[in-house]
Amino acid sequence: MCGIIGYNGTSDVAPLLLDGLEKLEYRGYDSAGIAVLEDGQIDIVKSKGKISSLREKISKTHAPKGDIGIGHTRWATHGEPSDENAHPHYSASRRFAVVHNGIIENFATLKADLQKKGYVFHSDTDTEVVAMLLDENDNGNFFETVLKTVKMLQGSYALGILDANDPDTLIAVKRSSPLIVAVSPEGNYIASDITAVLNHTREMYKMNDGELAVIKPDGVTFFNEDGDPILKELQHVDWDVHAAEKGGYEHFMMKEIKEQPDALRKTLSPRITEDNKIKLDDIELTDEQIKGFDRIYIVGCGSAYHVGVVGKYVIEQLARIPVEVDIASEFRYRYPLVNEKTLTIIISQSGETADTLEALREAKRAGSRTLAIVNVVGSSIASEADDVLYTWAGPEISVATTKAYSTQLSLMYLLAIRFALAKGSITESYSQELLTELQTIPDKVEEIFKLEPQIERVAETYTYLHHAYFIGRNLDYAVALEASLKLKEISYIHSEAYAAGELKHGTISLIEPGTSVIALCCCERLVDKTVSNAKEVLARGAQVFAVANEGNESVGNICDHAIYLPKTNPLFQPSIEVVPLQLLGYYTAKARKCDIDKPRNLAKSVTVE
Ligand code: F6R
Repeated sequence: MCGIIGYNGTSDVAPLLLDGLEKLEYRGYDSAGIAVLEDGQIDIVKSKGKISSLREKISKTHAPKGDIGIGHTRWATHGEPSDENAHPHYSASRRFAVVHNGIIENFATLKADLQKKGYVFHSDTDTEVVAMLLDENDNGNFFETVLKTVKMLQGSYALGILDANDPDTLIAVKRSSPLIVAVSPEGNYIASDITAVLNHTREMYKMNDGELAVIKPDGVTFFNEDGDPILKELQHVDWDVHAAEKGGYEHFMMKEIKEQPDALRKTLSPRITEDNKIKLDDIELTDEQIKGFDRIYIVGCGSAYHVGVVGKYVIEQLARIPVEVDIASEFRYRYPLVNEKTLTIIISQSGETADTLEALREAKRAGSRTLAIVNVVGSSIASEADDVLYTWAGPEISVATTKAYSTQLSLMYLLAIRFALAKGSITESYSQELLTELQTIPDKVEEIFKLEPQIERVAETYTYLHHAYFIGRNLDYAVALEASLKLKEISYIHSEAYAAGELKHGTISLIEPGTSVIALCCCERLVDKTVSNAKEVLARGAQVFAVANEGNESVGNICDHAIYLPKTNPLFQPSIEVVPLQLLGYYTAKARKCDIDKPRNLAKSVTVE
């Protein structure tokens, strides 16, 4: 989704903005632009397409010069991707320039009013309304003009604003869209996230909803929505700058797949003590409180939701607490039955997904205790949840998640064991056994990488595929959901996941000679049943690629291709099983020459609903 960068300092701003925008590319975008203020004039250059097109335009026309500016990558919501709709947007007088992430929900009414007053719009965006309103509300004081304008806006917005008459000041505003302010001795920044400025600083302030920041070259002041000054805490971010770069890999996705063993170790090891006990950071969740929960909701979007599906199987089996898993965009509008006796677990890599954030707020409003599993430190979900467990996966740049999914799963296992111990549904010694096994998962994931050539060969056979079906039962089904999403989102092959036992209730009519089916046969207890389902599709001409555990090599006798994975406790098998399927998606997309890290139409951080 849209990315914002802004700078006010002593350096030449245009190269710095372009560099920052490239760091935000991973969020997904279709056009980009910058605005630079110098000698009382704002110079805007913007272009449809990639940042390379913007760079080209700048080199062919002129490079804006100055040491204060704003930049933007746009992911179209109102109006097609085009030069006109790209940000920044001028106000009518060209005195103000605005970049925006979010959606101004009342823009149509505001625009109609402004048009009646004679304002002429040059784009289809909701953002241009903000720029025009600044002219309309202008009383000669930049700060007051912004404050008045913001009060008229409904919806979500992170804004960066320049005023040609106040060349010393950059103003940022935040409501329901992510924004940080980062500081350094050479100047101060605004950005959608810290990755944009990691090259320059690690010191940042996380802006909260309703806050406004006045950024000067030598300092930053924060205000609440009434314009009263507020104090905020400076946060230090540990992320390694190289972690946000490709490090020799062709794609971030492959780099991140390969980082999984390490990310799992980093996520698990601080939470398992030397005497094999769980320590969930500073979360104060007593056994009594856990026993008091009569239901757990797990809520997320996309892959985060799929982690929840695994969580349901594992928590219900170990802790015997009923679990409901919900897609955040459904949960928030369906009057969920949450109350003080429910625990709501919210899962999000970015911590900024609009629907997930609203689902969290909905659960809180209803009195539920909320626990968030989040990757981005200081993100909105992390700040608003009652408790947070961070996945220590480091920055995930590829749009398709891999290491965030895996680390989220690992925390789900820890929670399940913790709940089960509190409920007395497992013994201390079984818990120890589980924790010992859990710590072997990173090494077992590493072993999977030996299967890469085999997986690549299977993927090459999918180069011209139109449809794929993933089937599995129980936890294999939960993994099938994620595997299918991985394949479709980056290779653009239509793909579905089915509970294998459901095939005969309709879907099997789609199977014809040549149809590709990926049969997940790792759930030991149900292997025979899934193999029977695989035989049913084979009998109808399907090509079957099976994924099974070592020791079950007989599965390969009936299938076209098969790979065998290291065994673990059946509850943890998804952590191992998902990895070859991530690789399958990757190599299929590669064979089809797709834009793996930035698939079409997708954004890394979905900050609008
Ligand atoms: C798929 C993928 C998405 C995200 C979803 C939620 O590979 O990455 O489905 O899982 O958009 O994003 P977060 O976890 O940031 O809330």
